[in-house]
Amino acid sequence: MRILHRGKDRCPLATATRLHGGPAATTHRRAGVKMDHMPDTCIDNLFEMNRSWSEGMTREDPTFFQRLSTQQTPKYLWIGCADSRVPANEIVGLDPGHVFVHRNVANVVVHTDLNCLSVIQFAVSVLKVKHVIVCGHYGCGGVKAALEGSELGLIENWLRHIEDVRDRHQPLIESIADHDARCDRLCELNVIDQVMNVCRTTLVRDAWRNGQELTLHGLIYGLKDGLLQDLGMTVTGSEQAGEAYESALAALATRPPQS
Ligand code: CO
Repeated sequence: MRILHRGKDRCPLATATRLHGGPAATTHRRAGVKMDHMPDTCIDNLFEMNRSWSEGMTREDPTFFQRLSTQQTPKYLWIGCADSRVPANEIVGLDPGHVFVHRNVANVVVHTDLNCLSVIQFAVSVLKVKHVIVCGHYGCGGVKAALEGSELGLIENWLRHIEDVRDRHQPLIESIADHDARCDRLCELNVIDQVMNVCRTTLVRDAWRNGQELTLHGLIYGLKDGLLQDLGMTVTGSEQAGEAYESALAALATRPPQS
């Protein structure tokens, strides 16, 4: 798929540096350095950076916030991992207003999760997004914990859904010797299975049945290079889902595991 990329770094720190120059840039570079060692209680920096970001956005586009405050017309719903290193808007270079976002640990779509289902309903039925993207990432801690059966308390119940993915694709996973590569293969399989779960929701099935144009995608993000890859799990209708699923799994089996 093709996602619009403005070709500009929209990171608040970079934005502030680019737009303000001089003293403000110094402030933000300093704040950025501090981020590495920022104690948990240091929230003042966030307000400072927010003010600077807001000023920078307004300077670049004086009506930006005014427009956004009266309407949102995103074309994409993003279902991603809660991992702090995978911020939806930033990695595709889109400003606020373009991506409707739901994130949870390991980008899981569960049929009884009212939170996720409500997001999908609002995005599909009200906002009329054109694309639903499930985006996983290599090196996902939730997927790794599920693969290893780690004892983590409450979250084990959530990760049980990924253990289901692991068990469903056991031969494919066990055919890989290297542990990290095995984990990354499960990250890929999890994306493909979660796209299938989106396909199976009544919300998406009804949208397709009513002739609504809606394409589902399965993407994976590399923490080491900042790049997205398309896993080929692209679905445009209920009748095509099974074929897309088998095709995406077959493609995965023939490509070397990433890590
Ligand atoms: Co993750």
